[in-house]
Amino acid sequence: MQLIHDIAGLRQALAADPRRAFVPTMGNLHEGHLTLIRQARAALDAQGSGGLVVASIFVNRLQFAPHEDFDRYPRTLARDCELLQAAGCDVVFAPDERELYPEPQGYKVQPPTELADILEGEFRPGFFTGVCTVVAKLFNIVRPSIALFGKKDYQQLMVLRRMVAQMALPIQIIGGETTRSAEGLALSSRNGYLSELERAEALRLSRTLKAMLARWAAGEQDLSLLEAEAMAHLRAHGWQPDYVCLRRQHDLGPAQAGQPVVALAAAKLGATRLIDNIEG
Ligand code: PAF
Repeated sequence: MQLIHDIAGLRQALAADPRRAFVPTMGNLHEGHLTLIRQARAALDAQGSGGLVVASIFVNRLQFAPHEDFDRYPRTLARDCELLQAAGCDVVFAPDERELYPEPQGYKVQPPTELADILEGEFRPGFFTGVCTVVAKLFNIVRPSIALFGKKDYQQLMVLRRMVAQMALPIQIIGGETTRSAEGLALSSRNGYLSELERAEALRLSRTLKAMLARWAAGEQDLSLLEAEAMAHLRAHGWQPDYVCLRRQHDLGPAQAGQPVVALAAAKLGATRLIDNIEG
């Protein structure tokens, strides 16, 4: 496996093979990321022999608000590289910030408000512009034929799928299922911020989503009631929820009977903001 920090070096290394499956990350990798790496290999193998699995590790300042955790986001490059190598990654691109943003990034990719200003976008204004801008830039550098993102960031996956479709980028997007601990906690780099007690409490988030889905499936169609009850349940256990809601899988509009739904939540537990979602 090669570890490359500069764009020129990366382009040279990638010239060997035009078939590339790409997993963009911010590092501090866990089993969810490694599953995507293995899926990347499998997706290439399904199309014939060869192909390169490429991962990027870059903590993207553009997608963090000033009060968020950009500075303390864990940077664990050496360990990440060991894990990536064991998972079958061929090339790791870990650019310095000055390499990716040599000057202030004035040109940005602005996703449409109806998708990017709801849910995460409502509570993290500018987040999806930061994500789309860096992912578009990484796509231009890596030029993958396949790119993989986790469904844990459900809205991010949808925003990026639409970007690729609307911009006619020749990239197949694959969404990887959320990897969970044995007890059901969605794996996330931010879980590392949790104390032992908080980690046990964190299981409540997915359980609350499951309970909301079960009531919906049993015929309760009052969305406001379901969402208010779920928020109140979390608050009663010390959480500060941003949103807990049921949406259509297709476009994240309000859930409707007879259509596939997804329950999504974002909530702070102590100082840590967690997100999760479960498809119904
Ligand atoms: O999901 C992430 O880790 C990031 O948002 C991404 C896609 C790597 C862009 O910085």
